[in-house]
Amino acid sequence: MPRPHQGEADAVGRVPGSPATRATLVADLRKLGLAAGSTVLVHSSLSALGWVVGGAETVVRALEEALGEHGTLMMPAYSMNAPEPSLWKNPAVPEAWWETIRTEWPPFDAGLSPAVRLGTIAETFRSQRGTERSYHPNHSFSARGPKARELLDRHSLDDSLGEGSPLARLYERGGQVLLLGVDHASNSSLHLSEYRATWPGKHGSLPLRARVVREGVLVEIVLNDLDLDSDDFGKLGADYEAETGAVRTGSVGVGAGRLMAQPALVDFGVRWLETNRR
Ligand SMILES: CC(C)(COP(=O)(O)OP(=O)(O)OC[C@H]1O[C@@H](n2cnc3c(N)ncnc32)[C@H](O)[C@@H]1OP(=O)(O)O)[C@@H](O)C(=O)NCCC(=O)NCCS
Repeated sequence: MPRPHQGEADAVGRVPGSPATRATLVADLRKLGLAAGSTVLVHSSLSALGWVVGGAETVVRALEEALGEHGTLMMPAYSMNAPEPSLWKNPAVPEAWWETIRTEWPPFDAGLSPAVRLGTIAETFRSQRGTERSYHPNHSFSARGPKARELLDRHSLDDSLGEGSPLARLYERGGQVLLLGVDHASNSSLHLSEYRATWPGKHGSLPLRARVVREGVLVEIVLNDLDLDSDDFGKLGADYEAETGAVRTGSVGVGAGRLMAQPALVDFGVRWLETNRR
């Protein structure tokens, strides 16, 4: 007998009436305010939407239908191909393993490396035909639509979520962020606020070594970046919603959808971090 899929069973149990379909999701997204022609970065949890007919693939189809042919869909595709096991806490691994992990970890390959811990909607989107991906061993993004290349090109290796990243390109284009069944703890655009803000304890991270496949050749690179921290993003986002009312909220399936303009969010984030971080 196959093992029961408890998570999926729970998603079924969360639906009081009919399950979500492509058509009901498109209607929910439009009601939330997602307009045709928009450029939007989506962070998601499939199970939070309740059971969806066709799962992640259906959600991607619904997003693209709501955006139409002139819209551009973007998702995180973080692959964690610059591992530094001495920094790992969840889970920590024995020190005796560290060098083996550093040398044996697969190199970043934009066509092969899966998106890690971002959910099945993000990974489904990344792996579909026609999806483009930016080039970064830790913090790549994927996108599809007319603005995909301009969002993804020239992703800085040392500035993974800052001025040289697709987040800044989204900011310049007046893009939006859509949180599907997740809260601001997953709102990566607030990392762009971290780069732009100053606070007394702001500092860089340890340089990270990564092996990457570039034009078919394996090369080793070193990444110098900011020490990123999303621990206070939940509180930051909650304050943004309460103080500005600038986040549109509504149901998508049985989950919560949150839609917001990214530049205003990032600007608020800069002020908030400068006030609240030490
Ligand atoms: C971590 C996270 C992805 C977990 O969400 P999740 O809903 O549990 O996982 P997924 O989105 O991968 O969806 C898969 C789950 O959906 C459920 N599921 C399966 N089929 C389904 C269907 N047809 N309809 C709805 N749910 C279904 C199952 O519970 C499945 O989990 P399982 O395979 O372990 O049983 C989510 O909480 C999150 O944080 N998302 C945002 C990530 C992000 O963008 N972060 C950026 C900053 S770091």
